[in-house]
This record gives sequence, C-alpha cells and structure tokens, in this order.
Amino acid sequence: MSVKIGNIDLGEFPLLLAPMEDVSDPPFRYVCKKGGADMMYTEFISSEGLIRDAAKSKKKLDIFEYERPIGIQIFGSDIESMREATEIATLASPDLMDINYGCPVKNVACRGAGASLLQDIDKMVKMTEAVVKATHLPVTVKTRLGWDDNTKNVEEVAERLQDIGIQALTIHGRTRAQLYKGEADWTLIREIKRNPRVKIPIFGNGDVDSPQKAAAWRQEYEVDGIMIGRAAIGYPWIFREVKHFMQTGEILDGPTLKERVIACKTHLEKSIEWKGPKVGVFEMRRHYANYFKGLPDFKSYRMQLVKEEDIPTIYELLAEIEHKYAQAEFIPDLA
Ligand SMILES: Cc1cc2nc3c(=O)[nH]c(=O)nc-3n(C[C@H](O)[C@H](O)[C@H](O)COP(=O)(O)O)c2cc1C
Repeated sequence: MSVKIGNIDLGEFPLLLAPMEDVSDPPFRYVCKKGGADMMYTEFISSEGLIRDAAKSKKKLDIFEYERPIGIQIFGSDIESMREATEIATLASPDLMDINYGCPVKNVACRGAGASLLQDIDKMVKMTEAVVKATHLPVTVKTRLGWDDNTKNVEEVAERLQDIGIQALTIHGRTRAQLYKGEADWTLIREIKRNPRVKIPIFGNGDVDSPQKAAAWRQEYEVDGIMIGRAAIGYPWIFREVKHFMQTGEILDGPTLKERVIACKTHLEKSIEWKGPKVGVFEMRRHYANYFKGLPDFKSYRMQLVKEEDIPTIYELLAEIEHKYAQAEFIPDLA
C-alpha cells in the first residue's frame, strides 16, 4: 500500500533522507536523490533566523524541482515566531513543512526548541497547531521517544499532534538524554503503530545502516517507512541497496571505485555551484573520507584533499585515487 502525506504519494515503504545540519544541503541531497531517496528534508532552519532574514537561514530555503518531494524543517521556541517562519518557508514552495522536536543540543539556537518541547507537550501542541494553521502545506513532525527514560511520552505526542492535524510523524528511537549514545530502540515506535487511534504514517529513524537491518526492522517494528541519516553520508547508495534487498532478498553489489569517485566529484561540483568556490571547496572537506571509507592507506590522500584549495588539483587527486586503487591487485573491502 502506498504511503500518502496529503496529496504526496510516496509509494510503498518510502525511504527518507534525514534532515542533518551542515550535511543535508542541496549538494548532498543531489547525490542522495540519485541514490534513491524517496523524500528529503532540508537542514533544520531557525525560525528566528528566518524572521530576522539571516543569510544562513534564508539560504537553507533553496530547493530545486528535481528534489521533490521535499520538506523544509524549522525549529524554534516561540510559537509566534514559528507561525511567522512557517509563512516565510511556505513561500519557498516545498512539498511539506516539518517541525523539529528532536534536536538535543542546548546551545542558544536550540534553547527551549527542538527536543525541549518534549518537556512541555501542551506548548508543543499549541506550536504545532500554529504551524498547521499558517500553511496550506501538509505538516509533519520529527521527534524522539521522550525527554529521558522516565518520560517516554511520544505516544501522547503522536495522538495529540495527529488530532491537531499533522500528517506524518518520524520518531528517532532515542530519548533526549541519550543524545546519540547507545542503540536506538524502536519498541515504542511499534506500540504507536499498533495504537488503533494513530492513523498517520509513522516513520522509524535511528541506526539503520544496512539493507538487512532495514528489512528486519521493517518487519519487527511495523513502521510505514524508514528515515536514514548518518549511513547516507558518503554512501548515498544505501537507498537503492535497501530497496533492492527488500524487493529481491539479494544484496546489491556495492558501488565500484569509479562510482565512488563520480559521486564525490558530483558532490564537489554541486557544492561549488551552490556555495561558490571558496566555501564549496572548504565544506566538501568533511565528506572525502566518507566516500572512500575502507580504502587501505587512504590517509595521505585525505590529508591532501582536506588542505587543497585549487579546484583543478582536487580533481587531479580524485583521478589519481581512482587510477591508483583500480590498479591495485587487492580488491579493498568497500563494504
Ligand atoms: C550531523 C547531524 C546533523 C543533524 N541535524 C539534524 C537536523 O537538522 N534536524 C533533525 O531533525 N535532526 C538532525 N539530526 C538527527 C538525524 O536526522 C537523525 O535523527 C539521527 O542522525 C539518527 O538517524 P541515523 O542513525 O540514521 O543517523 C542530525 C544528525 C546528525 C548526525
């Protein structure tokens, strides 16, 4: 059965790319879309930043036709600001609006926002209602299991937010207190799926990093789709591999070295195109090691790639990597 959010038909068991600050920008999303992501989200955008017209926040509203369906994610601690930010973001014409109630960070931007709202469900409900009323687009929410082990209140969140009109909920199987530590536990997510009151699609998130795990957790936790974050960094093929495994029960061969180089070059190209040469080159540095994970003795190339400023030299280095490792007698473990 197809999963639907408003008029958006996501097909059967969609795979979503997680919103990730400083990662899921348009260049990264481009390679993930090619890798088979069914729906994507922007990085989270500060509601206050949007209202102030801050350049960083405004830039995050950039979305492209080929990215659809795509959601813009916002966060904030003030209901009126969230309402206003929703109106601003709606003008960028995403397919849906998403609210972040999962960010565990306590810095200035996130104070009272993100997962903090899990401590004040009444306020969360009011905030969500304000967002739903401020846009004609479907609104979705991403959150965690609860604040800590003693307050795993996501079931209440699911029911109450559904009642005021959200159209899908993604749950990261950790509490705020856990941050990113320990294993994600999806047991509570299954309980929500089994709650007959809950009708909206429920997406599971947290620690899916292989086709086998995705297929096993789909069965075990009965979710409507899965959202993948970290496993897609440097490995956009995760989406097609999960799909292939679910359809055939077979593990698709991993990308060839050539495919890795092409994806990395495409990511770099798009970075330069969207951010300009200086920032594009600089921000690409965090990605190189991920594209070439598993290659033996890669360190010296990585060191060069993260220092190099000259774009043609970077392309030469990438060509050299492709040549060197393709020539190697051993087949490195690229898994
Ligand atoms: C670098 C990084 C940035 C993140 N930024 C966001 C964000 O902007 N909004 C959000 O809802 N979650 C954010 N998250 C959380 C992810 O969306 C996701 O819930 C988490 O990584 C668990 O999924 P995974 O195990 O598949 O990575 C971020 C995670 C990482 C690692």
